[in-house]
Amino acid sequence: MLKIVVCVSGGGTNLQAIINGITQGAIKHAQIERVISNNRNAYALERARQAGIDTVCVSSGDYADREQFNEALLKAVDEAGPDLIVLAGFLVVLPPQLIRKYENRIINIHPALIPSFCGKGYYGLKVHEEVLARGVKVTGATVHFVDEGTDTGPIIMQKPVTVQQDDTPEALQLRVMEEAEWIILPTSIALIAEGKVTVKDGHVHIAD
Ligand code: GRF
Repeated sequence: MLKIVVCVSGGGTNLQAIINGITQGAIKHAQIERVISNNRNAYALERARQAGIDTVCVSSGDYADREQFNEALLKAVDEAGPDLIVLAGFLVVLPPQLIRKYENRIINIHPALIPSFCGKGYYGLKVHEEVLARGVKVTGATVHFVDEGTDTGPIIMQKPVTVQQDDTPEALQLRVMEEAEWIILPTSIALIAEGKVTVKDGHVHIAD
């Protein structure tokens, strides 16, 4: 059984897609042990509670400095004993010690086709605004392992989404979620739970 910790900051639609994947059987041999949020008001926490999942809030405002916050976050993760940490809209720069401890066991969903429209400052609606400003015709989403860079880790899965002429950032954001994120995040987790995903020389290999 793959034990998962999901880290969230916002609405939690990706968390919901994982919960649904597990309850509907698309993700086998996996369970969410805990959902961690840095934002007490994240609707994702409500989704977790409704699914009967343990929730923990680790908010930077509750700690004297970054170091204490990092320690609390690491503790909240460690307590759950995860095999996999899923960042599903988690707007926190992860402590380096967490990244090192869980090397190749942390994945993130990014709402663009890495290496385009990623890196520092590219999160939320900003990504889709930049996509429209540049006029690209295809965008999408990427699931990748997390390393110490920003959106630089080994890529597990990507899915393209066509940009439409009349797209607004909000409309595009929703379509990227519906057509890509909510599909490739649960699928990546299913493949990891089946033991099919390996990382070698910085590249991901997926077994048939
Ligand atoms: C998604 O667009 C995800 O790609 C990004 O943050 C957003 C989270 O949305 N990292 P939700 O909280 O899962 O609804």
